[in-house]
Amino acid sequence: MNTKPESQSLAAWVEETREGIDSGRFPVRAFNDQAVYDLEQERLFSKTWCFLAHESEIPHPGDYVTRYIGNNNLIVARDEHGKIHANLNMCRHRGNVMCKAEMGNASHFRCSYHGWTYKNSGELVGVPYMKEGYEGRLKRKDWGLVRVRVDSYEGLVFGCLDPEAPPLDEYLGGFQFYLDLYLKHGLGGVEVHGPPDHWIADTDWKICTENFAGDGYHTPVAHQWGFHLGYFPSSGSTHSQGWAVSIPGKGHGIGLGHGPNFPPFGGFPDDLVAEMKQSLSPEQVEVFSRTRTAVGSVFPNLSFLMQPFSLEPGEIGVRFVTMRLYHPVGPGRMEMYSWCLVPKNASQEYKKEAYRAYTLAFGQAGTFEQDDFENWTKVTQAAGMTMVRDVDFPYIMGMDSAPDPEFPGPGHAVVPYVNDTNFRNLWSRWADYLAGEV
Ligand SMILES: [Fe+2]
Repeated sequence: MNTKPESQSLAAWVEETREGIDSGRFPVRAFNDQAVYDLEQERLFSKTWCFLAHESEIPHPGDYVTRYIGNNNLIVARDEHGKIHANLNMCRHRGNVMCKAEMGNASHFRCSYHGWTYKNSGELVGVPYMKEGYEGRLKRKDWGLVRVRVDSYEGLVFGCLDPEAPPLDEYLGGFQFYLDLYLKHGLGGVEVHGPPDHWIADTDWKICTENFAGDGYHTPVAHQWGFHLGYFPSSGSTHSQGWAVSIPGKGHGIGLGHGPNFPPFGGFPDDLVAEMKQSLSPEQVEVFSRTRTAVGSVFPNLSFLMQPFSLEPGEIGVRFVTMRLYHPVGPGRMEMYSWCLVPKNASQEYKKEAYRAYTLAFGQAGTFEQDDFENWTKVTQAAGMTMVRDVDFPYIMGMDSAPDPEFPGPGHAVVPYVNDTNFRNLWSRWADYLAGEV
């Protein structure tokens, strides 16, 4: 039980929280609290690798999108040589926003205040009144836009504000095996199907990350109408069928729900399946062929889901992939970004059907999305109540689960799929950052 925050410092509260996670407890307060939100900005989002964009959102030289890491607004742009850059969306002269659009194409950005002009790579190239005003004192190379480290994996572009943080590969720490299940859909990989839906929700970002780190527990309850109406037919699975896989010490986690009555690779066109078997390793094919629903989160706030949705009730349906980013904008408040990913080499017909399935299930007004946010918003409201400030949640499912020695992928894979192991790993990593130990 956490003691009341008024009687202890935030640092002591974080320490107590860390100890609680080991015994399967996590404080409700973490999901809606100004001090926790501020600490996350300071210690978490300033250190982790955060998702910025998919390469297919900015395929041509000059293409850009504006995105966030924590409260920092960034311009993510492809330069004239094809290289992707992320720079703070702020003029170095007096701090005006450089780019007011969410997406577009530009070789340069010109400040609307005093007219400083930068290349889309961030270099300062134009300063009005340069000679007469600065008399040789201003060196353009010293006053480019503030740069952010960028790295990518299979088309996913990430940024990191910490120059000392380990490289992206190390940060992902083996979770690439599972990311491939969403990204290597054929030899051409995947692409976004249009720009993301995005909207503000009165929900804490962490609730979403946790849910998508493999919460198979809520599915038959929160999404029961999907089953009843035949849009998500029962696969014949029970709580015990499937794996919960986490990467210890990294925070990433995925739930792999089996479907005994569901055909391997069901919901994908046959020609695509043949290509997928070439782009994935034999171990990945084994995991994939037994999985109906794969729901995973990259720490801290990027998630993926792949599942079938029946456009005609009762049919196997169309397998689609959604990618989601939970951008925190305040305590208990976030901006949700939601994309549909489709295989580049798939037919137009399949792409259209997959997008339809995604929209009906996980688009902004999708049935599953509505089910989830109704619950998540209420949890967030509850977490802001004064009476819960010394109350914990139980995270004690699977406390003694041993890893499955037969599982062919990396990480810590436990059976059954309905399990809190992934969540303890997630909160433990979160607490490490908040304690300043990463
Ligand atoms: Fe859900």
